[in-house]
Amino acid sequence: ALLGIDIGTSGCKALLLSVDGDVLATSTATYGFSQPHAGWTEQDPALWIEGTRKAVGQVMAQRRDVELVCIGLSGQMHGLTPLDKDKNVLRPAILWNDQRNAAEVAEITEKAGGLEALIGRTGNRMLVGYTGGKIAWMRNQETDLFGRLRHVLNPKDYLRFVLTGELATEVSDASGTGLFDVKRRVWASELIETLDIDPSLLPACHESHEISGRVSAAGASLFGLPAGVPVVGGGGDSVIQTIGSGVIAPGELQTTIGTAGILAAALDAPTPSPDGRIQMFCNVSPSKWHAMGVSLNAGGAMGWFRSVLAGAGRDEELTFDAICDAAASSPAGARGLLFLPYLNGERCPHPDPTARGAFVGLTARHTLGDVGRSVMEGVVHAFHDIHALMTLMGIEGRVIKASGGGAKSSLWRQIQADMFDCDVVTTEGAAEGAAFGAALVAGVGIGAWSDATAASGTLKALTRQHADGSVRDVYRKAHHIYRGLYPALSDSFS
Ligand code: XUL
Repeated sequence: ALLGIDIGTSGCKALLLSVDGDVLATSTATYGFSQPHAGWTEQDPALWIEGTRKAVGQVMAQRRDVELVCIGLSGQMHGLTPLDKDKNVLRPAILWNDQRNAAEVAEITEKAGGLEALIGRTGNRMLVGYTGGKIAWMRNQETDLFGRLRHVLNPKDYLRFVLTGELATEVSDASGTGLFDVKRRVWASELIETLDIDPSLLPACHESHEISGRVSAAGASLFGLPAGVPVVGGGGDSVIQTIGSGVIAPGELQTTIGTAGILAAALDAPTPSPDGRIQMFCNVSPSKWHAMGVSLNAGGAMGWFRSVLAGAGRDEELTFDAICDAAASSPAGARGLLFLPYLNGERCPHPDPTARGAFVGLTARHTLGDVGRSVMEGVVHAFHDIHALMTLMGIEGRVIKASGGGAKSSLWRQIQADMFDCDVVTTEGAAEGAAFGAALVAGVGIGAWSDATAASGTLKALTRQHADGSVRDVYRKAHHIYRGLYPALSDSFS
């Protein structure tokens, strides 16, 4: 069997997959993250290792009958995991949604010769969440620790190190450092030199399906796995997830509603967006690239809404399902209530750590259902806003493949179908998240499938919903107003 492991923001998931594409066992171990200052998010890498021990231990105990043939790793992207010369962790990892380093991002962009020159070198602008800018932040703000810094890894690559002893990454997560030449699929050496970053900080880089190492004796005893099993490169969660959902061909879009909201498409050529607001990364398939826009506030906005209500003493009754049920009683457009979801700053389409959320159009007649619905609609408006940028690059959306926890809500899927005016489908594997994609890529690594396209051909459809033409105009008008909100309100945010 194949083992996929995903180091998420809120937990680690392990999944066993047969080489015929059947899910044999899954397990999740949850953990938290800390917010030492407003806009900062950090996590102790020991939590990932402990979470992996638990989740892997559970799936292996459920299926003692299977022989493990390959492992694929996935994880939250952009998390700076700093190691010293003895490969010990120097400080908590700085996560993908951390907003602390706007000054360093501006400094890097200037040193690189401006935005256009930077995009020319990497295919991307340096966004605030990316790993590269966090190295510069450590250099400016934590001088002593920086002096001891010898290795920089992304989260799943830290797990690879503990599992195999190898310091390595692969092209999709490397893309998310902002220091990688996405077109040529190699580190952007000249840029790294220009920025005065020691290139030996960065690990060797593989294609995603390539074998990057094998489970070491120490890894085997720590995780209860057989020594010697090959571990493929794997992929960043939001990239590898497209393989798990079968988003390969032109016209297919993926939406993921996890903590973040991701709109993604597979491309046959690297096509940077003119101002770099759409992320252009290497796909886990060596002949493909990956376009995506990430909103920092999707499932996280819903989580916030629930926690506010729970604080009002209604914790028990206010499950996500209950909020979705209440929201379903409100009509499309939530009776004129709009929600701008930028609760934690925003990345796309507005790269602005100071962006803030808002309810607009609130009246005394709005119910809990209306407010809940407006939060769900706000998240889909954010996707639609990202899509407007993608259409400028020629990326169309004829079908949406929905994934992530939010795809479990049929109302949330229907809002997507109605606002994008296309079908929304879910597939069996997509519901399992990035661990499923990681297991598929492991299968490609040992030749169970010829490539990622063939691997995702095994996916079975679960649901399909069509757009309801009768609400098209309501959403068109609402979206027009939504798009005016950020420009109208941005001066009041800082
Ligand atoms: C992608 C991104 C997020 C994290 C979440 O650019 O920042 O999708 O990977 O896990």
